[in-house]
Amino acid sequence: MSEKYIIAPSILSADFTQLGAEVQNVIQAGADWIHFDVMDNHYVPNLTFGPMICESLKPITKNLRTADNEPVLIDVHLMVSPVDPLAESFAKAGADLISFHPDASVHVHRSIQSIKAQGCKVGLVFNPAQPLDVLNEVIEELDLILIMSVNPGFGGQSFIPSSLQKIERVRRLIHACGKSIRLEVDGGIKPNNIRQVADAGADAFVAGSAIFGQQDYTKVITEMRTSLK
Ligand code: DX5
Ligand code: ZN
Repeated sequence: MSEKYIIAPSILSADFTQLGAEVQNVIQAGADWIHFDVMDNHYVPNLTFGPMICESLKPITKNLRTADNEPVLIDVHLMVSPVDPLAESFAKAGADLISFHPDASVHVHRSIQSIKAQGCKVGLVFNPAQPLDVLNEVIEELDLILIMSVNPGFGGQSFIPSSLQKIERVRRLIHACGKSIRLEVDGGIKPNNIRQVADAGADAFVAGSAIFGQQDYTKVITEMRTSLK
């Protein structure tokens, strides 16, 4: 994966009455990936959307290119348990990246293997109180590590400051393993804190309310990119 910073708007905060246009608009405004926050009202206390939404948006993302003329990736964040059945359905529906919470899977290594076997890139997601220990066993298998800087379930929450130290620890683990693994952060990312999160070691940023809550997507994404320079 390229080393540039990734901006991944979460459609959780998009206008669902015109989701296709929202996806086109944020990519034309300078975003890179489209982040799908999938919630099952079991692993987290909220229910969002399933593979059908991914399937309906795939023809749109497939025909888009980022400002750097890169493919627009569908970045699926599974806040579900069990993991494997929905991971398979999202892979079939066109997901490019699938990340899941290790505490939501009985057999983490098998879930990783199964996602990769379907041709998707794979990531693990860590809630604020979730230890990183499992990375000692599987970090070499990963394309992405996603650090939650809020407790999962809702958009519009405030960034948890202690996440910065966790991001620094993950960056050290990625450096030690020598593989190019994306370090994504999700929750409470705004133009006024994205630099701090990047300085801690993140290189991919999920933002829902900070982007879709604004009138001018180009303005807010440009603000984020300027802060990252
Ligand atoms: C929580 C969700 C949110 C969302 C980002 O489960 O994963 O973190 O993506 O929402 P904002 O950017 O509004 O905090
Ligand atoms: Zn997410």
